[in-house]
Amino acid sequence: MSNAIQSFLTENKVLNTNYNVSGESISSYESYKKLCLEVENNFDEFWSGYATDLLSWSKIFTKVLDDSNKPHYKWFVDGSMNVTVNCLDIHLTNGNANKIAIIFESDDGEVLKITYKDLLKRVCKFANGLKNLGYKIGDKCIIYMPMSIEVIVAMHACARLGIIHSVVFGGFSSKSLHERILDIGASLIITSDYQKRGGKKIPLKAAVDAAIISGNCESIKNVIVYKRAGDDINWLSSRDLWMDDLEKNQLDYCEPVFVNSEHPLFVLYTSGSTGKPKGIQHSSAGYLLWAKMTMRWTFDIRGDDVFWCTADVGWITGHTYIAYGPLSMGLTQVIFEGIPTYPNSARFWKMIERHKVSIFYTAPTAIRSLIKSSDNDRSVHPDNFDLSSLRILGSVGEPISPDTWRWYYKNVGNENCPIADTWWQTETGGHMITPLPCLNYLKPGSCSLPLPGICAAVVDESGEDVPNSTGGFLVIKKPWPGMIRNIWGNTDRFITSYFPEELHGYYLAGDGAQRDNDGYFWIMGRIDDVLNVSGHRLGTMEIESALVSHSKVSEAAVIGRSDDTTGEAVVAFIVMKGERPYNDEAINIAKELRNWIACEIGPIAKPKDIIFGDSLPKTRSGKIMRRLLRAIANGENINQDTSTIENMSIFDNFSITF
Ligand code: PRX
Repeated sequence: MSNAIQSFLTENKVLNTNYNVSGESISSYESYKKLCLEVENNFDEFWSGYATDLLSWSKIFTKVLDDSNKPHYKWFVDGSMNVTVNCLDIHLTNGNANKIAIIFESDDGEVLKITYKDLLKRVCKFANGLKNLGYKIGDKCIIYMPMSIEVIVAMHACARLGIIHSVVFGGFSSKSLHERILDIGASLIITSDYQKRGGKKIPLKAAVDAAIISGNCESIKNVIVYKRAGDDINWLSSRDLWMDDLEKNQLDYCEPVFVNSEHPLFVLYTSGSTGKPKGIQHSSAGYLLWAKMTMRWTFDIRGDDVFWCTADVGWITGHTYIAYGPLSMGLTQVIFEGIPTYPNSARFWKMIERHKVSIFYTAPTAIRSLIKSSDNDRSVHPDNFDLSSLRILGSVGEPISPDTWRWYYKNVGNENCPIADTWWQTETGGHMITPLPCLNYLKPGSCSLPLPGICAAVVDESGEDVPNSTGGFLVIKKPWPGMIRNIWGNTDRFITSYFPEELHGYYLAGDGAQRDNDGYFWIMGRIDDVLNVSGHRLGTMEIESALVSHSKVSEAAVIGRSDDTTGEAVVAFIVMKGERPYNDEAINIAKELRNWIACEIGPIAKPKDIIFGDSLPKTRSGKIMRRLLRAIANGENINQDTSTIENMSIFDNFSITF
């Protein structure tokens, strides 16, 4: 039984009356209902009102939505704008010029601050440098950098010029990086010599070099390197440039390139149910509008807030709620280079106290690991820190169990801060279903109600609504501005994955869900072969293809099992080409395979359990019986039909857990 279903059964309401809306969120449940009705009755007016009020346009749009070529929706037709103007330039004239935009805290605790005025200057200087090198609108740039002020500068410099960026998480291997360079056809890479995390130095430029050497990267003209550690690195002087050298002597201002509303701001790769990651393509105007609207609604933003989202910019959360949303709102935000457990598990609480964070947005996996640490060592418990600056807490990336929710609510929020359990996806661009701070009550484990404009529903396989308290597919029935625009280079996959014909053209999220009698949504986990490990999406097929590309592996099946800390853990069932290994030999091969996966995909995809067998259980038509494997991996009783399996003892006795 999934965590979400369990939580549904132990449902309990928590009154949210301690919180008074004092920022830009919707002030009451009644106003929320009114807005929902407004968008239902006057779709165009609703969206056009927000788009004109919240965004600065160089040319105003002539039509809100062009749906003549579904599902290729076009928002804010004929409009032009620039994302960085909306995140930076606007603050020079609205009183925020000297306000701190970013408080950066490094892995070892050093703090750097930058104002909106200076951030714009840096973005402009870097953009001018890129322009001098010949980069222009429509070029593609891979960004492979640590959390830093520089990664924000890099993203915005691209956006300034209309260069489409694709940020690759620094934990991905050079092989994954290579795959993404080729898929997007990048001509530019921005990276760093090293990244520092948890007291360790991890090389990034070396991974870029390895990716380029692996072939077909002739399109790459330059590699620009942010100097983080300053150690010697390999250097190709005809191609490589230091970021600070490029910025030197450039003008402080760079004319923004105004782009069409639909111009791709970025492509971000994520896992799906095939072996190949998909490049989720987002727009400029619609994406930014949704980022800004959700910032205001979910977090009840006030001018004096200090916002901290602990995600990495390599994921969608780091795009929407670090690189774009907070800056569009003129907020002061904390950006953190390190990890929550270094130098010890009090790091988050110390940082909240130090920077007087008022909105804290993190992932359940981090909370779970900090609960464990503080159970073992009272000195790292949040009780020891002054967290009274907090107003709102957030959770993202995976279901938060009621127990974890309650701990977070009590020990971090002191029972005063509503928890925004935000359900959304790389594809949705921003929050979709999440408790607004004005809700009268919260339900631990439920992401609650859809935001106004989001027509969420639970349907069966023919697209019909299912009754309350019945599981089904989570769909969004109407388009919204932040939605995915395409899968880069694969329109067919875009249509079949997200808008299958049998679901009447609704957006299919890929999650199972149910709705209770109060209309609150309960997410029941993925319905496809996608795992969620520590809030990160991993495709089982991707890991399987990587495993079978190892010379000793004949067959592999990857499934997820529940795990106390990471939510789900990767379990690999392996059939070797030669004899099935046992004892020490099995332990050694398992280690080899884990390292192999770290190189092929990245350390996050390493299997936690490896189980060797003689063959994989398959149906008569040759399909791997994943449900059976899932039952074996989770130690459940096997109550399904196993009559087609010749030898049920195939996996009986050798499992290695790391
Ligand atoms: O299964 C859902 C889960 O994470 C998936 C999206 O993953 P990704 O595109 O990497 O984006 C993560 C950050 C938004 C969803 O399909 N998920 C995300 N948020 C929640 C969640 N599951 C339950 N509750 C959530 N709040």
